[in-house]
Amino acid sequence: MPRAAPNVCQPIPAPKNRGDFLLVSCQGGAEAALCRRQQEILPALAKGAWRRGLVTFRLAADAKSAAQAAASVGFDPPDNFFPDLIFARAVIRSFGQVVGASDEERIEKLRLLAGHSTWDNVHVWHRDPRTNAASQPVRCHLLKLYEKSAALPAVAQPGDLVLDCVIDSIDRWWVGWHRADTPSSCWPGGVYPGVLPEDKVSRAWLKLDEALATFAVALERGNRACELGAAPGGACQRLLEAGLMVVGIDPALVADAIAADPRFEQWRMRARDVRIRMFRGFDWIVTDMNIDPKSTLESIERIVTAPGVRPAGIIATLKLPEWSRSDSLPAWLALFRTWGFQPQARQLSSGGREVCVVALRDAARRKSTARQKKSRQKNAQQSVVRRARNRATHQPDQ
Ligand SMILES: C[S@@+](CC[C@H](N)C(=O)[O-])C[C@H]1O[C@@H](n2cnc3c(N)ncnc32)[C@H](O)[C@@H]1O
Repeated sequence: MPRAAPNVCQPIPAPKNRGDFLLVSCQGGAEAALCRRQQEILPALAKGAWRRGLVTFRLAADAKSAAQAAASVGFDPPDNFFPDLIFARAVIRSFGQVVGASDEERIEKLRLLAGHSTWDNVHVWHRDPRTNAASQPVRCHLLKLYEKSAALPAVAQPGDLVLDCVIDSIDRWWVGWHRADTPSSCWPGGVYPGVLPEDKVSRAWLKLDEALATFAVALERGNRACELGAAPGGACQRLLEAGLMVVGIDPALVADAIAADPRFEQWRMRARDVRIRMFRGFDWIVTDMNIDPKSTLESIERIVTAPGVRPAGIIATLKLPEWSRSDSLPAWLALFRTWGFQPQARQLSSGGREVCVVALRDAARRKSTARQKKSRQKNAQQSVVRRARNRATHQPDQ
């Protein structure tokens, strides 16, 4: 029987049974920091189950107490809900768990639990990304089950309705869904899919690459950037690749490959020993010093509040000596506002126990928002065309 002609302009609707839990993943160890942030911005949510790298929050229906129910009733987040939880990697609506002795058994239970036959993409990811077990065979099974091509790229497009299968342990999966929207919600498990190329001098290259992608930072060729804590030079390398003129400040030497670049200069000293007027004319202040966040913030404050120094943006790594220091994040972010910047923060999946803050002045923020909007529109148009082609031919996605 031919299927009815679909309305190709409409996105695939969300499942009718939306799931009563929010499942949020994070770096192993960051669960308490994540929950503190949730208490601050979404106090109505009640914590459900938690494991290393994963916390669930009850949304409404089967709240255990009247108080919980009263607090969260009526809270049905939008399909593309991605609250500013800073420590969250992925945020999905969860249907619950499936347990079974084999992939086949769990897939059959997943099919019944998910109860929705159409998805744009399938994300299969591990609660603990350090696990070696391969997720690809499970994704292949699920792509087949939902009549998608085995070659469908794992990175979703904004607007895609995504089935999430979270591998918890050898016999247990969590099943849920989300609507891809922000860059990190397009990545399976919110984990940056970029890898560190061999020619990069440090992992900081990948961290900066992820920060630029996460916050759609618009670096422009010819911009000037200075990095405090630059050695051995991975972040400077990424900035040079973006066409910037870069000054690296660090008592330690940067790698020869970076030092040799004609658009790079090293000031071999501590940040506080640089004369303040030397910071005039920089568009970007980047910091990645292995010191206490308070000291990093003092260094930034000294620079951005000095007369004649007016960078468009700051990209700062705040190292957390202990997770409990995340309690100070609201106060730290408030500081950026007092300096005239709008901060956004996220614990990057390629970083360690630290938080990346990207803080932009209004003009830079407008540029970044316009860039994000343009990219979303382009992706949405491409998604409509892709869906139209797939539905018209009844062929799996290409
Ligand atoms: C994590 S490493 C930086 C990695 C670097 N961003 C990269 O891209 O390879 C931290 C660096 O901060 C530097 N550092 C620590 N305190 C500093 C200070 N007060 N001023 C400048 N650099 C500092 C250290 O010498 C060290 O090289």
